Amino acid sequence: MKIYEAKDYQEMSRKAANILSAQVILKPDCVLGLATGSTPIGTYDQLVEWYKKGDLDFSEVKTVNLDEYRGLTRDNDQSYYYFMHDHLFDRVNIKPENTNVPDGTEEDSDKECARYEKLIESMGGVDIQLLGLGHNGHIGFNEPAASFAQTTHCVDLTESTIEANKRFFASADDVPRQAYTMGIGTIMKAKKILLIVNGEAKADIVAKAFFGPVTPEVPASVLQLHNDVVIVGDSAALSKIPR
Ligand code: GLP
Repeated sequence: MKIYEAKDYQEMSRKAANILSAQVILKPDCVLGLATGSTPIGTYDQLVEWYKKGDLDFSEVKTVNLDEYRGLTRDNDQSYYYFMHDHLFDRVNIKPENTNVPDGTEEDSDKECARYEKLIESMGGVDIQLLGLGHNGHIGFNEPAASFAQTTHCVDLTESTIEANKRFFASADDVPRQAYTMGIGTIMKAKKILLIVNGEAKADIVAKAFFGPVTPEVPASVLQLHNDVVIVGDSAALSKIPR
Protein backbone atom coordinates (compact mmCIF):
# COMPACT_ATOMS: atom_id res chain seq x y z
CA MET A 1 0.00 0.00 0.00
CA LYS A 2 1.42 3.35 -1.03
CA ILE A 3 0.21 6.54 0.62
CA TYR A 4 0.71 9.91 -1.03
CA GLU A 5 0.07 13.09 0.87
CA ALA A 6 -1.34 16.14 -0.85
CA LYS A 7 -1.47 19.54 0.79
CA ASP A 8 -5.14 20.13 0.09
CA TYR A 9 -8.22 18.93 -1.82
CA GLN A 10 -7.06 20.44 -5.09
CA GLU A 11 -3.67 18.77 -4.97
CA MET A 12 -5.29 15.45 -3.98
CA SER A 13 -7.61 15.74 -6.97
CA ARG A 14 -4.76 16.53 -9.35
CA LYS A 15 -2.65 13.60 -8.15
CA ALA A 16 -5.61 11.23 -8.46
CA ALA A 17 -6.41 12.54 -11.94
CA ASN A 18 -2.76 12.03 -12.91
CA ILE A 19 -2.91 8.38 -11.86
CA LEU A 20 -6.16 7.80 -13.77
CA SER A 21 -4.78 9.64 -16.82
CA ALA A 22 -1.69 7.47 -16.81
CA GLN A 23 -3.94 4.42 -16.95
CA VAL A 24 -5.91 5.84 -19.89
CA ILE A 25 -2.73 6.78 -21.75
CA LEU A 26 -1.06 3.40 -21.14
CA LYS A 27 -4.17 1.41 -22.04
CA PRO A 28 -6.64 3.49 -24.08
CA ASP A 29 -9.34 0.78 -23.90
CA CYS A 30 -8.98 0.27 -20.15
CA VAL A 31 -11.82 -0.39 -17.73
CA LEU A 32 -12.09 2.34 -15.11
CA GLY A 33 -14.02 1.57 -11.94
CA LEU A 34 -15.57 4.85 -10.83
CA ALA A 35 -16.98 6.29 -7.63
CA THR A 36 -19.38 9.02 -6.58
CA GLY A 37 -19.65 11.19 -3.46
CA SER A 38 -18.17 14.63 -2.96
CA THR A 39 -14.54 13.43 -2.83
CA PRO A 40 -14.02 12.56 -6.54
CA ILE A 41 -15.66 15.70 -7.97
CA GLY A 42 -12.34 17.58 -8.19
CA THR A 43 -10.68 14.55 -9.80
CA TYR A 44 -13.35 14.44 -12.50
CA ASP A 45 -13.06 18.21 -13.05
CA GLN A 46 -9.33 17.82 -13.57
CA LEU A 47 -9.79 14.97 -16.06
CA VAL A 48 -12.30 17.10 -18.00
CA GLU A 49 -9.83 19.97 -18.08
CA TRP A 50 -7.07 17.78 -19.50
CA TYR A 51 -9.51 16.27 -22.00
CA LYS A 52 -10.44 19.77 -23.18
CA LYS A 53 -6.76 20.63 -23.59
CA GLY A 54 -6.43 17.60 -25.85
CA ASP A 55 -4.26 15.62 -23.43
CA LEU A 56 -6.74 12.81 -22.84
CA ASP A 57 -8.91 10.65 -25.07
CA PHE A 58 -11.78 8.63 -23.61
CA SER A 59 -13.07 7.26 -26.92
CA GLU A 60 -12.11 3.67 -26.11
CA VAL A 61 -12.40 3.83 -22.32
CA LYS A 62 -15.01 1.69 -20.57
CA THR A 63 -16.34 2.36 -17.10
CA VAL A 64 -18.19 0.56 -14.33
CA ASN A 65 -19.49 2.44 -11.33
CA LEU A 66 -19.39 1.09 -7.84
CA ASP A 67 -22.94 1.61 -6.75
CA GLU A 68 -26.38 3.13 -7.20
CA TYR A 69 -29.32 3.94 -4.95
CA ARG A 70 -32.13 1.45 -5.33
CA GLY A 71 -35.33 3.02 -6.60
CA LEU A 72 -33.92 6.24 -8.10
CA THR A 73 -34.50 6.81 -11.80
CA ARG A 74 -31.69 7.99 -14.05
CA ASP A 75 -33.15 11.47 -14.35
CA ASN A 76 -33.26 11.93 -10.58
CA ASP A 77 -30.46 14.38 -9.86
CA GLN A 78 -29.41 12.34 -6.81
CA SER A 79 -28.96 9.12 -8.75
CA TYR A 80 -25.37 8.12 -9.32
CA TYR A 81 -26.21 7.70 -13.01
CA TYR A 82 -27.08 11.42 -13.11
CA PHE A 83 -23.99 12.34 -11.05
CA MET A 84 -21.63 10.53 -13.43
CA HIS A 85 -23.14 12.12 -16.52
CA ASP A 86 -23.12 15.51 -14.90
CA HIS A 87 -19.54 15.38 -13.59
CA LEU A 88 -17.78 13.33 -16.24
CA PHE A 89 -19.52 11.37 -19.00
CA ASP A 90 -21.30 14.30 -20.68
CA ARG A 91 -18.13 16.41 -20.57
CA VAL A 92 -15.67 14.08 -22.32
CA ASN A 93 -15.71 11.93 -25.46
CA ILE A 94 -16.58 8.67 -23.72
CA LYS A 95 -19.17 6.58 -25.58
CA PRO A 96 -22.35 6.39 -23.49
CA GLU A 97 -22.64 2.68 -24.32
CA ASN A 98 -19.24 2.12 -22.72
CA THR A 99 -20.38 3.49 -19.35
CA ASN A 100 -22.10 1.34 -16.75
CA VAL A 101 -23.88 2.09 -13.49
CA PRO A 102 -26.06 -0.46 -11.65
CA ASP A 103 -29.71 0.00 -12.64
CA GLY A 104 -31.44 1.38 -9.55
CA THR A 105 -34.85 0.94 -11.14
CA GLU A 106 -34.52 -2.82 -11.61
CA GLU A 107 -36.78 -4.21 -8.90
CA ASP A 108 -35.44 -7.73 -9.10
CA SER A 109 -32.27 -7.23 -7.06
CA ASP A 110 -30.90 -10.75 -7.63
CA LYS A 111 -31.25 -10.28 -11.36
CA GLU A 112 -29.61 -6.85 -11.40
CA CYS A 113 -26.71 -7.86 -9.15
CA ALA A 114 -26.01 -11.00 -11.17
CA ARG A 115 -26.18 -8.99 -14.41
CA TYR A 116 -23.74 -6.38 -13.10
CA GLU A 117 -21.24 -8.88 -11.77
CA LYS A 118 -21.29 -10.77 -15.07
CA LEU A 119 -20.89 -7.55 -17.00
CA ILE A 120 -17.70 -6.66 -15.09
CA GLU A 121 -16.32 -10.12 -15.78
CA SER A 122 -17.21 -9.90 -19.47
CA MET A 123 -15.26 -6.64 -19.69
CA GLY A 124 -12.16 -8.44 -18.43
CA GLY A 125 -12.28 -6.95 -14.94
CA VAL A 126 -11.43 -3.49 -13.67
CA ASP A 127 -7.98 -2.08 -14.45
CA ILE A 128 -8.13 0.63 -11.81
CA GLN A 129 -10.87 1.18 -9.25
CA LEU A 130 -11.34 4.65 -7.80
CA LEU A 131 -12.73 4.67 -4.25
CA GLY A 132 -13.85 7.24 -1.72
CA LEU A 133 -14.14 6.42 1.95
CA GLY A 134 -17.30 6.61 4.08
CA HIS A 135 -17.11 8.01 7.61
CA ASN A 136 -17.76 4.53 8.99
CA GLY A 137 -15.14 2.97 6.73
CA HIS A 138 -17.49 1.93 3.96
CA ILE A 139 -16.28 1.55 0.40
CA GLY A 140 -18.90 1.64 -2.32
CA PHE A 141 -21.90 0.97 -0.13
CA ASN A 142 -20.32 -1.93 1.75
CA GLU A 143 -21.31 -1.07 5.27
CA PRO A 144 -19.53 -2.34 8.42
CA ALA A 145 -19.80 -6.12 8.85
CA ALA A 146 -20.29 -6.78 5.14
CA SER A 147 -18.64 -10.05 4.23
CA PHE A 148 -15.30 -9.69 2.48
CA ALA A 149 -16.38 -12.34 -0.04
CA GLN A 150 -19.51 -10.62 -1.28
CA THR A 151 -20.01 -9.75 -4.94
CA THR A 152 -22.51 -7.18 -6.26
CA HIS A 153 -25.51 -7.15 -3.92
CA CYS A 154 -28.32 -5.08 -2.49
CA VAL A 155 -27.62 -3.38 0.85
CA ASP A 156 -29.65 -1.69 3.54
CA LEU A 157 -27.93 1.62 4.24
CA THR A 158 -26.97 2.29 7.85
CA GLU A 159 -28.28 5.29 9.76
CA SER A 160 -24.82 6.87 9.72
CA THR A 161 -24.65 6.69 5.91
CA ILE A 162 -28.19 8.08 5.55
CA GLU A 163 -27.18 10.86 7.93
CA ALA A 164 -23.95 11.57 5.98
CA ASN A 165 -25.70 11.58 2.61
CA LYS A 166 -28.81 13.56 3.54
CA ARG A 167 -26.96 16.80 2.69
CA PHE A 168 -27.59 15.95 -0.98
CA PHE A 169 -31.34 15.43 -0.49
CA ALA A 170 -34.18 17.66 0.67
CA SER A 171 -34.31 15.70 3.96
CA ALA A 172 -33.10 12.44 5.52
CA ASP A 173 -36.52 10.92 4.67
CA ASP A 174 -35.75 11.36 0.99
CA VAL A 175 -32.51 9.33 1.14
CA PRO A 176 -33.18 5.88 -0.35
CA ARG A 177 -32.85 3.09 2.22
CA GLN A 178 -31.20 0.62 -0.10
CA ALA A 179 -28.54 0.53 -2.78
CA TYR A 180 -26.94 -1.85 -5.23
CA THR A 181 -23.19 -2.02 -4.74
CA MET A 182 -20.20 -3.96 -5.96
CA GLY A 183 -19.22 -6.17 -3.05
CA ILE A 184 -15.86 -6.22 -1.32
CA GLY A 185 -15.13 -9.38 -3.32
CA THR A 186 -15.79 -7.48 -6.54
CA ILE A 187 -13.67 -4.48 -5.50
CA MET A 188 -10.75 -6.68 -4.42
CA LYS A 189 -10.62 -8.22 -7.90
CA ALA A 190 -9.67 -4.85 -9.44
CA LYS A 191 -6.08 -4.95 -10.68
CA LYS A 192 -5.27 -1.62 -9.05
CA ILE A 193 -7.09 0.46 -6.46
CA LEU A 194 -6.88 4.21 -5.97
CA LEU A 195 -8.54 5.52 -2.81
CA ILE A 196 -8.89 9.24 -2.31
CA VAL A 197 -9.77 10.92 0.94
CA ASN A 198 -9.78 14.45 2.26
CA GLY A 199 -10.71 16.45 5.32
CA GLU A 200 -10.19 16.22 9.05
CA ALA A 201 -13.52 14.45 9.54
CA LYS A 202 -12.01 11.35 7.90
CA ALA A 203 -8.69 11.37 9.83
CA ASP A 204 -9.83 8.84 12.45
CA ILE A 205 -11.27 6.39 9.96
CA VAL A 206 -8.15 6.62 7.75
CA ALA A 207 -5.93 5.65 10.70
CA LYS A 208 -8.29 2.85 11.72
CA ALA A 209 -8.77 1.45 8.21
CA PHE A 210 -5.16 1.43 7.04
CA PHE A 211 -3.22 1.03 10.30
CA GLY A 212 -5.68 -0.94 12.42
CA PRO A 213 -6.74 -4.58 12.24
CA VAL A 214 -8.28 -5.95 9.06
CA THR A 215 -11.91 -6.51 10.02
CA PRO A 216 -15.32 -6.47 8.31
CA GLU A 217 -16.30 -3.88 10.95
CA VAL A 218 -14.12 -1.46 8.97
CA PRO A 219 -14.76 -2.47 5.35
CA ALA A 220 -11.89 -0.40 3.88
CA SER A 221 -9.39 -2.25 6.08
CA VAL A 222 -9.58 -5.14 3.60
CA LEU A 223 -7.54 -3.01 1.20
CA GLN A 224 -4.48 -3.79 3.35
CA LEU A 225 -4.66 -7.24 1.74
CA HIS A 226 -4.72 -6.01 -1.88
CA ASN A 227 -1.36 -6.02 -3.63
CA ASP A 228 -1.71 -2.76 -5.56
CA VAL A 229 -3.36 0.02 -3.58
CA VAL A 230 -2.57 3.71 -3.77
CA ILE A 231 -4.08 6.12 -1.27
CA VAL A 232 -4.00 9.81 -2.00
CA GLY A 233 -5.08 11.89 0.95
CA ASP A 234 -4.82 15.52 1.91
CA SER A 235 -2.84 16.45 5.02
CA ALA A 236 -5.98 16.79 7.14
CA ALA A 237 -7.19 13.27 6.31
CA LEU A 238 -3.71 11.82 6.92
CA SER A 239 -3.12 13.79 10.12
CA LYS A 240 -3.70 10.82 12.46
CA ILE A 241 -1.72 8.08 10.73
CA PRO A 242 1.35 6.79 12.57
CA ARG A 243 4.55 8.39 11.30
C1 GLP B 1 -21.16 7.41 -0.43
C2 GLP B 1 -20.71 6.53 -1.61
C3 GLP B 1 -19.28 6.12 -1.48
C4 GLP B 1 -18.45 7.33 -1.09
C5 GLP B 1 -18.81 7.74 0.30
C6 GLP B 1 -18.07 9.00 0.78
O1 GLP B 1 -22.08 6.82 0.42
N1 GLP B 1 -21.52 5.37 -1.84
O2 GLP B 1 -18.83 5.55 -2.71
O3 GLP B 1 -17.09 7.01 -1.12
O4 GLP B 1 -20.19 7.92 0.44
O5 GLP B 1 -18.67 10.14 0.30
P1 GLP B 1 -17.97 11.56 0.30
O6 GLP B 1 -16.92 11.48 -0.73
O7 GLP B 1 -19.06 12.51 -0.09
O8 GLP B 1 -17.45 11.77 1.66
